[in-house]
Amino acid sequence: MVNTFLENMFSLKDKVVVVTGGGGCLAGAMAGGAARAGARVAVLDIDSDKALKAASSILKEGNCAIALKADVQDRGSLEEAREAIISYYGRIDCLINGAGGGRSNAITSETLTFFDLTAEAIQSVFDLNILGTIMACQVFGREIIKQERGSILNIASVAGLRPLTRVISYSAAKAAVVNFTAWLAVHMCQNYSKGIRVNCIAPGFCLAEQNRFLLIDAKNEKTERAKKILASVPQNRFGEPEEFVSAVLWLLSDSSSFTTGSVIAIDGGFDAYSGV
Ligand SMILES: NC(=O)c1ccc[n+]([C@@H]2O[C@H](COP(=O)([O-])OP(=O)(O)OC[C@H]3O[C@@H](n4cnc5c(N)ncnc54)[C@H](O)[C@@H]3O)[C@@H](O)[C@H]2O)c1
Repeated sequence: MVNTFLENMFSLKDKVVVVTGGGGCLAGAMAGGAARAGARVAVLDIDSDKALKAASSILKEGNCAIALKADVQDRGSLEEAREAIISYYGRIDCLINGAGGGRSNAITSETLTFFDLTAEAIQSVFDLNILGTIMACQVFGREIIKQERGSILNIASVAGLRPLTRVISYSAAKAAVVNFTAWLAVHMCQNYSKGIRVNCIAPGFCLAEQNRFLLIDAKNEKTERAKKILASVPQNRFGEPEEFVSAVLWLLSDSSSFTTGSVIAIDGGFDAYSGV
C-alpha cells in the first residue's frame, strides 16, 4: 500500500529524461535516480566516455538509458542529440541541465587579481553555465512543449544565491541560472502550457571534478578554503551526489505539479547560516 502510494507519487515511468553533463558526479547520480524511478534516460556529455559509463551503469541495473556526446555550448551538437533522442525514444518530457562548473583561470588568487581576469576566461564560465543552460532549454524545450506537460530542472549553486569569494564568474553565472529559471517558468505558463514547469536546485558543496582543485590539495588534504566552507555548513560535511536524487524525483514527477519557478537549496544548511 505504502509502496504503491510512493510509486504513484514519484514515478517517472516511461518519461523521457534528458540529462546534460550526465557523465558528471551530480548529474550522473540524478540520471541514475531518474532511471530507477522508471524514466527512459538520455545521458549527454561533452565527454563521450563519461556519458557511456553513466549510461552503462544504468543499463547494468536493468534500467533504460542511451549515451550521446553533446556540447551544451554548441547548438548544432544539442540539435543532433535531440534528433537522436527523438528517433530512439520518440519524445522528450524532462530536462536536467547538469552541465556546468568553474574554470581555474576565472578565479581570483594572490597571483591573478580581479583586475587581471581576462574577458575570455569570464566568458567561458558564462557560456558553460548560463548560455549552455539557456540553449539546452531552447533545443529540448521545443520538444517538451509538444506534450504540453513536462519539467525542466536547472542546476544552480549556493554561489548563485550568495556570491562566494574568488569564484566571480561562477557566482554571477549561477545567479543568472536562478534568474533564468524564474523567467522561463513564467514564459512557459504564459506562452505554451501551464503544465510545463521549470525549477532549480542550488546544491551546496560536494567533491566533484570541477571543484576538486579548490577543495583538496596535492597532499590529498582539505584546503584552507574547504575548511572554511565546512565551518559555514551547519551539518559540517560535504554533500553526496545521491543526496540530490529525492529532490530531482519530486521536481521531475507530477508530485510537484504546483511547483514552478522555485529554487531549492540543498546544502546542509549553508544558505541558512549567517555565521553567527
Ligand atoms: N559539486 C559541487 O559542489 C556543486 C555545487 C553546486 C553546484 N554544482 C553544479 O552541479 C552541476 C554538476 O557539477 P558536478 O559537480 O557534478 O561536476 P562534474 O565536473 O562532476 O560534472 C560536470 C559534467 O559536465 C560535463 N561537461 C562539461 N562541459 C560540458 C559541455 N560544454 N557540454 C556538456 N557537458 C559538459 C563534464 O564532462 C562532466 O561530466 C554543475 O552545474 C555545477 O556547477 C556543483
